[in-house]
Amino acid sequence: MPTISWDPSMTTGVDSIDDQHKQLIAWLNDLLTAMSQGRGRTEVQKVLDDLGGYAVSHFGHEEECMAKYNCPVAAQNIDAHKQFVETFKSFKQEFDRTGATAHLVVRVENELLRWLTSHIKRTDTQLLACVH
Ligand SMILES: [Fe+2]
Ligand SMILES: [Fe+2]
Repeated sequence: MPTISWDPSMTTGVDSIDDQHKQLIAWLNDLLTAMSQGRGRTEVQKVLDDLGGYAVSHFGHEEECMAKYNCPVAAQNIDAHKQFVETFKSFKQEFDRTGATAHLVVRVENELLRWLTSHIKRTDTQLLACVH
């Protein structure tokens, strides 16, 4: 299954944010592994809940940092976070209805993992110039 991992092109200049990104990516990988291995619904549900809660607290922390450093993409970052939360919510609802179908696993991989890494690389990393 997916092998997306944090790399230096995702550096934001804020260690706490980089650590949270590493954790988010690790949990998304865990989620995909659990889903694709057909592990129990309860276990997948637990990873989904943990990941969802973690994403929301990460977004809050990062939005505060961007505001503090007057980052020009602060508003764009908030919008992208809202979009992520919506997409995540719809996957959760689908999982509740259908379980971890192959179709759902593929979309979680494409949309959440790839969205997250491209968001980090294009938007979150703009913090780097603001911090320095
Ligand atoms: Fe972000
Ligand atoms: Fe982020």
